[in-house]
Amino acid sequence: MQTHDSLSAMVQLAAETRAAGKTIGFVPTMGALHEGHLDLVRLAAKKADVVVVSIFVNPTQFGPNEDFDRYPRDLEGDLAKCETAGAHHIFLPGRGLIYPHDYSTYVTEESVAKPLEGESRPQFFRGVATVVLKLFNIIQPHFAVFGQKDAQQLAVIRKMVADLHVPVEIVAAPTARDPDGLAMSSRNAYLTSSQREAALVISRTLRQIESMVAKGERRAERLVAEATHILADERRLRVIYVSIVDPATMQKQITVEPGNSLMAIAAWVDQTRLIDNILF
Ligand code: PAF
Repeated sequence: MQTHDSLSAMVQLAAETRAAGKTIGFVPTMGALHEGHLDLVRLAAKKADVVVVSIFVNPTQFGPNEDFDRYPRDLEGDLAKCETAGAHHIFLPGRGLIYPHDYSTYVTEESVAKPLEGESRPQFFRGVATVVLKLFNIIQPHFAVFGQKDAQQLAVIRKMVADLHVPVEIVAAPTARDPDGLAMSSRNAYLTSSQREAALVISRTLRQIESMVAKGERRAERLVAEATHILADERRLRVIYVSIVDPATMQKQITVEPGNSLMAIAAWVDQTRLIDNILF
């Protein structure tokens, strides 16, 4: 496995790999890698000849009062994990490469990005779409893998790629969960054991709603009310949103359409913001 921090190294890698008729699979990350990220790398390694992982804590997707400075960083651990999971190249751009001092171009998706996360984190998807498009242009992958855990991010990237004719296939990987059900996230590192216990109500709620849907309940209002009721039992949790939406457009649905509906939840557990979702 090789690490690279220059644009020229990555452009050369893309040119040589493509000239040799080989495929490039790409996994963009912000580091602090957990098994969920490694699932993405393993999936990429199954499909591609060459797997590139980027590690870059992208400042433009954090709001002024968010956790950019304290976002967990563990480069040495990340590199060891990437190698075990089957990555061949790690791209570690410096901030100055991605955002030089005179940087002024941003990508704004104006529909899918608006509700849910977009309401409480207005800068978030602009930062994500911008850095992902830049990384696609640098790495020139045939496909890129994103986790279903960040369902709205996945939908925004799919929309950006379609709208801007970006020749990269977007592959979704299922949400990785710890044995207790908590969706894996780098931000779980912030949780104390009692906060973690409180956070479990989120995945418990999603499972309960999934079983109501399996038994035939289709009314979104009824399902959201039940989810809100279960979440309210946990006093350390402050719900940001609970919604049933179309997974491609993120528009609210009145009726669950099996195979095309998603319940998304965001909540604070004390100072930690968590998201999770389930596809019906
Ligand atoms: O999901 C993430 O880790 C980030 O949003 C991404 C896609 C690497 C862009 O910074």
